[in-house]
Amino acid sequence: MLKHLAFLALAGLSASQDCSALPSTINYAGHPLKLPDPFTFLNGTKVTTLADWACRRSEISSLLQRYELGPLPPGTPTVAATLTSNRLTITITTSSRTITITPTIRLPTSGSPPFPAVIALGGSPSLPIPSSVAVISYNNEEIAATDPRGRGKFFDLYGTATKTGGLLAWSWGVSRILDALELLGSSLTKIDTKRIAVTGCSRNGKGAMVSGAFDTRIALTLPQEGGTGAMGCWRIVGEMKRNGSKTEDAAQIVTGDQWFAKEFENYTDEKGLAKLPFDHHLLAGMIAPRGLLVVENSGIEYLAPPSAVGCATAGRMVFEGLGATGNMGFSQAAHGSSHCRLPGVLEGDVRAFVERFLLGGVAKEVWRVDEGVRVDVGRYVDWKVVKLG
Ligand SMILES: *[C@@H]1O[C@H](CO)[C@@H](O)[C@H](O)[C@H]1NC(C)=O
Ligand SMILES: *[C@@H]1O[C@H](CO)[C@@H](O)[C@H](O)[C@H]1NC(C)=O
Ligand SMILES: *[C@@H]1O[C@H](CO)[C@@H](O)[C@H](O)[C@H]1NC(C)=O
Repeated sequence: MLKHLAFLALAGLSASQDCSALPSTINYAGHPLKLPDPFTFLNGTKVTTLADWACRRSEISSLLQRYELGPLPPGTPTVAATLTSNRLTITITTSSRTITITPTIRLPTSGSPPFPAVIALGGSPSLPIPSSVAVISYNNEEIAATDPRGRGKFFDLYGTATKTGGLLAWSWGVSRILDALELLGSSLTKIDTKRIAVTGCSRNGKGAMVSGAFDTRIALTLPQEGGTGAMGCWRIVGEMKRNGSKTEDAAQIVTGDQWFAKEFENYTDEKGLAKLPFDHHLLAGMIAPRGLLVVENSGIEYLAPPSAVGCATAGRMVFEGLGATGNMGFSQAAHGSSHCRLPGVLEGDVRAFVERFLLGGVAKEVWRVDEGVRVDVGRYVDWKVVKLG
């Protein structure tokens, strides 16, 4: 009940209260290890109520855009859509240009419409999706190429000078698919837009997590093996790297892959990390109290398993503040180098979250940390949960 109230309050308040404007200059004197406190505004004022959190959430969104992801385009583009057989044709128009994308819908073979659906970055989900859930295949690389910067339909529409990085461009595309589904309506599409999940693995796991954070219409976010850039904190992975681990840290991730804004290159070393007024525990926090299940593989050092555990633990403290701890799950096992292949031991965790958030199933806690992964969360978290309400 509480989580439901929190959700409604959050949705309503984020529409009416805009705290997205940031000071033109920010001199955040943070720490290279300590994760910024979700429950304190940038100006030092404490966050104590749900209304405060709605405001803090939009502040966090603006911070992520300014430092890391690049800006969402200003204004709302015009969206038109048609459905022919299983193909959506979505036309997106600004004052000067038009692009068209054509995601496909695979309807369930069981159940009755309107169906819940999973939007799969990369086209087909690598998590097991029940036969009663539709799959929407989304070709996000055609929206924004991983490399080179500025290639893709997003940039055809907004110009190559736009500073938006690939991940936020992919997320923008997910939002346009949702626009199209809402526009056409469930009697035509057979899709229930109140029960939409987003998923992807590896780079697409990063994209899925950003999509869930930036569009509150998404009921369930399922990032799989996204590692650093998804449910990993830059500060924790930075320390791991300094300790000699072969992980993908911020300094490496900005080389070659155009997922982030150029601006982020200024914040990838130890000194730069201290100046970041956010970290990815707050990306998880933006999803709260909606459903989030993080699926990780502790068998791949490159994915920085301790960073995933530490960052997820900190992120879940926001869910706790909103009275919705169980709405965030973590499911991790070591399954060698088989990237993006879910091991049997984690299948039940995925099923539990999909059933609960898409099929009306009962709540089940999922917090499965590989016991071989060691992280001292107290090294990174020096703040406490504030019960918002
Ligand atoms: C700090 O920022 C928040 C959010 O923008 C605002 O509501 C609050 O009034 C500010 N506090 C001070 C002391 O300026
Ligand atoms: C890095 O090394 C320090 C010193 O040995 C240790 O305390 C810390 O836990 C290590 N951090 C990580 C993330 O491995
Ligand atoms: C890095 O910071 C400098 C100084 O603030 C700024 O001029 C420059 O544009 C930044 N670099 C990027 C890639 O944004």
